[in-house]
Amino acid sequence: MRLKRKDILAIEELTKDEIELILSTAESFKEVSEREIKKVPTLRGRTIINLFYEPSTRTRTSFEIAAKRMSADAINISTSSSSVVKGETLKDTARNLEAMNPDCIVLRHPSSGAPEMLARLVRCSVINAGDGSHEHPSQALLDLLTVKERFGRIAGLKIAIAGDIAHSRVARSNIHGFAKLGAEVSIAGPPTMMPSEIEKMGCKMFYKVEDAIRDAHVIMVLRIQLERQKTGLFPTAREYSKLFALDSKKLEHAAKDVVILHPGPINRGIEISSDVADGKYSLILEQVKNGVAVRMALFYLLMGGSRE
Ligand code: CP
Repeated sequence: MRLKRKDILAIEELTKDEIELILSTAESFKEVSEREIKKVPTLRGRTIINLFYEPSTRTRTSFEIAAKRMSADAINISTSSSSVVKGETLKDTARNLEAMNPDCIVLRHPSSGAPEMLARLVRCSVINAGDGSHEHPSQALLDLLTVKERFGRIAGLKIAIAGDIAHSRVARSNIHGFAKLGAEVSIAGPPTMMPSEIEKMGCKMFYKVEDAIRDAHVIMVLRIQLERQKTGLFPTAREYSKLFALDSKKLEHAAKDVVILHPGPINRGIEISSDVADGKYSLILEQVKNGVAVRMALFYLLMGGSRE
C-alpha cells in the first residue's frame, strides 16, 4: 500500500485516515528493529538524501537508520560541509541533487515553507524534517505512536503542551495531529510565547502550567528555542524555569498515570527538571525508538509497494 501523495510536508494537510495508516504501518515495522539482523529488502535500489540545513541528532540519525534498515542507499548532506557554504541556493542544490535521480529528499531547513518549495522543484518525494517554526510532521507522528501505544487510543485523551509554543514546529504539528485523531489539546506558556493564531487551532490556552496539566493524560514539554528568539521573551532562564519548568512539584497537579514527552534536545533545569525527564512517567526514549519505525513507515508508504 502507498499514500496517494508524493510528499510529507505537514500534518495539517494529512487526513485522519492517512495518519492512521502511517501509525499502523509504523507499528508493523517496529519488530524489524528488534531482530538480530535489522534489515528488510523492501527499498533495495532506492536512494534517499538527508539534506539538513540545521543541526539534528535524533531526526537525521533515525531517518538514516530507517533508510538503511529498509536496504535503501542513504546519503547525508550536512550544509556545513557542502557547497551551501559557498553560497549555493536551495533551488540550485535541489536541481543538482535531482540530476542524480534520488527517490526521496528529507529536508530540514530554518525557513518555514522550504520543503514545500523543494517539493515543487523535484520529481522525487520530499519529507519535511522540520522547517522553521512551521511543522515537524515526523516528530508529531512518532509522538502520536508513542501515546497510542501507551493508552491504546488517541481519541478522548487530554494532551497538555507546555513551553515555547510560538517558535515550536513540534507544537504546531502535534496540535494538528492530536486534534485530527480526536484528542483535546491544552497549551501553556508565557504570553510572549503564545502565537496569536493559536486559539483558531482549537486549543485551550493557559498561562500557568499547573492549570494546563490538571487531568492531562499526556504532558508534552517543549524545548526553549533560543536560536529562534530575536528578542528576550523571558527575563532570565532561572525565572522561566521557576514559572514554567516541569518539575516534581508541578507534577503533583497531574494525574497519577500521566506520561511525559519531550522532543529533545532537552535543556535540563530550564524547561524540565532532570528527575522528571528521567523519571518513571517519562516516555522520552520511547519517542526516540518510535522515530525509527515512523520514518520506516513514511519511506515505505511513499516509495514501497504499489500506489493505491
Ligand atoms: N526532535 C528533534 O527534532 O531532535 P533533533 O533536532 O535532534 O533532530
